Amino acid sequence: MELRRFGRAELEVPVVGLGTWSVFDLSPDDEPVAAAVVEAAFETGVRFVDSSPMYGRAEGVLGRALDAVGVRASAIVATKIWTPSILEGRLQLDAQLGFYGGRVEFEQVHNLVAWREHLPWLEEEVANARIALLGATHWDESRYPELMECMRTGHIDAVQVPYNPLERRAERDLLPLADEMGIGVIAMRPFGEGSLLRDAPRDPAVLRELGVESWSQALLKWTLSDRRIHVAIPATSSAEHARSNAAAGSPPWFDDEQRRLVERVVAG
Ligand SMILES: NC(=O)c1ccc[n+]([C@@H]2O[C@H](COP(=O)([O-])OP(=O)(O)OC[C@H]3O[C@@H](n4cnc5c(N)ncnc54)[C@H](OP(=O)(O)O)[C@@H]3O)[C@@H](O)[C@H]2O)c1
Repeated sequence: MELRRFGRAELEVPVVGLGTWSVFDLSPDDEPVAAAVVEAAFETGVRFVDSSPMYGRAEGVLGRALDAVGVRASAIVATKIWTPSILEGRLQLDAQLGFYGGRVEFEQVHNLVAWREHLPWLEEEVANARIALLGATHWDESRYPELMECMRTGHIDAVQVPYNPLERRAERDLLPLADEMGIGVIAMRPFGEGSLLRDAPRDPAVLRELGVESWSQALLKWTLSDRRIHVAIPATSSAEHARSNAAAGSPPWFDDEQRRLVERVVAG
């Protein structure tokens, strides 16, 4: 799997990661499902895993799965602070340090909630070595101007935004700014929360022309063929899907014509 570097510490990240929204919000009885997904993902080169206190039980389920599979040491754990309160934010970090063995590699301010209030104490936690890198996320393109204001402070190493053939607003000014500042970009919902997978082309010649085995791989390669994206984080509850997604993380990348072919299929 290809590695890309970003941020102040030049973090090296395999380009396919693993999201946990909804799919890792599992009851104790169902937690082995998460361990099977983590095992398949890490066996095939994934290291970057993303969660949030917003995702129900997912943070804890992810931490236990990393331990059960024995891959915590090699994982890059990305999670989030999601609250307007600094006190509550500190409690969220404490819980995460419990889930992830005393360290979070990448802490993001979720949906920019109180980002000006959170960044100063998060910077202290970076100095304390409880967090390695900082970031911020938003799913709503109307909030990109504020996300870019946050980027310009120079205090964050990466941003997380949607990037797929139907959600491309980041191309206009956010991706150029990230590129100029050396800020990493994490692509959330590469499959449009699964909705883009319904557009799969019926003609197998399309997949042959793209050099991939499945439509999900075509969508991931579309996202990762923009070299300003550092890691895409598809979520899955299936070990088989995790392996297939990881296989899309190696070159060759799509040229402009192949990207346009994917866009035409999505446009219908
Ligand atoms: N959605 C948001 O607004 C949002 C916001 C902030 C952060 N994020 C982060 O970004 C991550 C990814 O976004 P997302 O979860 O919204 O959506 P997504 O990754 O675009 O799509 C997830 C869906 O794709 C399916 N899928 C995954 N791999 C597949 C494959 N190889 N073949 C067929 N189906 C496949 C999954 O179903 P199966 O379980 O059947 O594989 C799941 O239903 C989140 O988990 C979270 O960590 C999302």
